Amino acid sequence: MCNNKIDLRVLPKEEISNIDLNCVDLDAPAPEYEPQRQYYFISKLRSIVKSESEKAGHPLTFFVQTFGCQMNARDSEKLRGVLELAGYASGDSEDADLVVYNTCTVRENANLKVYGRLGYLGSMKKKNPNKKIALCGCMMQEPDVVEKIKKSYHFVDLIFGTHNIFKFAELLVTALESERMVIDLWKDTDQIVEELPAERTYSFKSGVNIMFGCNNFCSYCIVPYVRGRERSRRPEDIISEIKSLVQDGVKEVMLLGQNVNSYGKNLDTPVTFAQLLRQIEQIEGLERIRFMTSHPKDLSDELIEVMKHSDKICRHLHLPLQSGSSRILKQMNRKYTKEQYLELAAKLRREIPDLSLTTDIIVGFPGETEEDFQETLDVVRRVRYDSAFTFIYSRRTGTPAAAMKDQIPEEIVKDRFQRLLTLVQDISQEMSARVQGQTLPVLVESLNEHDPALVTGRLSNNLLVHFPGTEDLIGQTVYVYLKECKGFYYIGELRK
Ligand code: 5AD
Ligand code: SF4
Repeated sequence: MCNNKIDLRVLPKEEISNIDLNCVDLDAPAPEYEPQRQYYFISKLRSIVKSESEKAGHPLTFFVQTFGCQMNARDSEKLRGVLELAGYASGDSEDADLVVYNTCTVRENANLKVYGRLGYLGSMKKKNPNKKIALCGCMMQEPDVVEKIKKSYHFVDLIFGTHNIFKFAELLVTALESERMVIDLWKDTDQIVEELPAERTYSFKSGVNIMFGCNNFCSYCIVPYVRGRERSRRPEDIISEIKSLVQDGVKEVMLLGQNVNSYGKNLDTPVTFAQLLRQIEQIEGLERIRFMTSHPKDLSDELIEVMKHSDKICRHLHLPLQSGSSRILKQMNRKYTKEQYLELAAKLRREIPDLSLTTDIIVGFPGETEEDFQETLDVVRRVRYDSAFTFIYSRRTGTPAAAMKDQIPEEIVKDRFQRLLTLVQDISQEMSARVQGQTLPVLVESLNEHDPALVTGRLSNNLLVHFPGTEDLIGQTVYVYLKECKGFYYIGELRK
């Protein structure tokens, strides 16, 4: 029972995560400030979910499906955080009472997947009209997509985008109280709302956003259009989030940004990414720091220096190449040449010999000739990536590359893609075997999917290791002898 109702309009931000959400004064108007305003709506959502669960005769369930990158995965944890706090039970399939698709639009395939699954959701909703469907994420930032959904998928209840995801609780309340499709999309924002809840997928590791958006405008990429301009979080907000994660049992953080190397440039008091890393390193109890993604043009010597001397920063750097041809790189607006990239990779290999270097490569960019493609193969052979994500170029409407002449025919692209994949995989197998016979620290992540007598953990260099062990090891860092490299992973043995 509540002795006093809490008027969130006068509650300091620092106290917000400790209040009893059943005691919020919902007769008072909603606060104007964030995050108080969203907690008000979470509390309102609680009362709706409670009465709807009683009506339905079962606890209302939710299911959040993520498409795309780690940034989206982290956003989904925030969506789940709101829903759990609002009293929804977690479901494990699209049978749930509320289904949220957090979408991606970086390649055409990602969009097609969502349309396919929406068709299926529509047929489920016919059988259960009380089912609610919400769509968010990058794909929703595209006006054509939203038009198509309005026309062909009218059963969708709520659409919102990447810039106003912090408003999820408020928008969901509006959708639940409305008979019509609720759509709220912002073109851009300079707002960063702190202190909202998040439900972590793993107890021992977590993504942490350090910045949002991208200013690079690589000519093939839709991201700057759907995620807006670069905005960095303040270092003190990042540090305090990580400290509280560590108190809550987190040992490894993945710092997330579209281009982490340009972190901090637009803050009132500018801070470099390397300086931020130095501060994060000081956090006691934190064991591992990862980050994603680095743009080669902004990777500083200061960063290499910090990584080299750090015990916590993992021995892994993802450094997207995209193409090995200087001519294509220029067309891609990547702002580095083949030679500059090779020099940087050589410096990294020299300074941090046990570093695992991984990359992204696109084949079939407009105008790419066999000679250009050979340049890409040449870089792959010289850098010897520990692993690489390879993509077939996908034409994204609205990007400069979509309007370029000389789009490459499918058969040629597929042939190049196959040749690249074979080379990348051969090298990756050899590189993965580099640490065979060593005994290295492993953070145990889960029981093995196929054999419950084994557990699976991750090396600092991001490779997976399977070894005999029990569930109680999950979340612990242990030393494992790397007995046998099986291509892209290891079989190991626990050492005391
Ligand atoms: N086509 C193919 N791949 C793309 N990527 C980004 N845009 C496209 C596109 N239009 C790839 C890049 C990027 C990764 C996240 O996705 O390689 O690094
Ligand atoms: Fe896209 Fe380039 Fe920004 Fe990466 S850096 S998100 S590829 S525009």
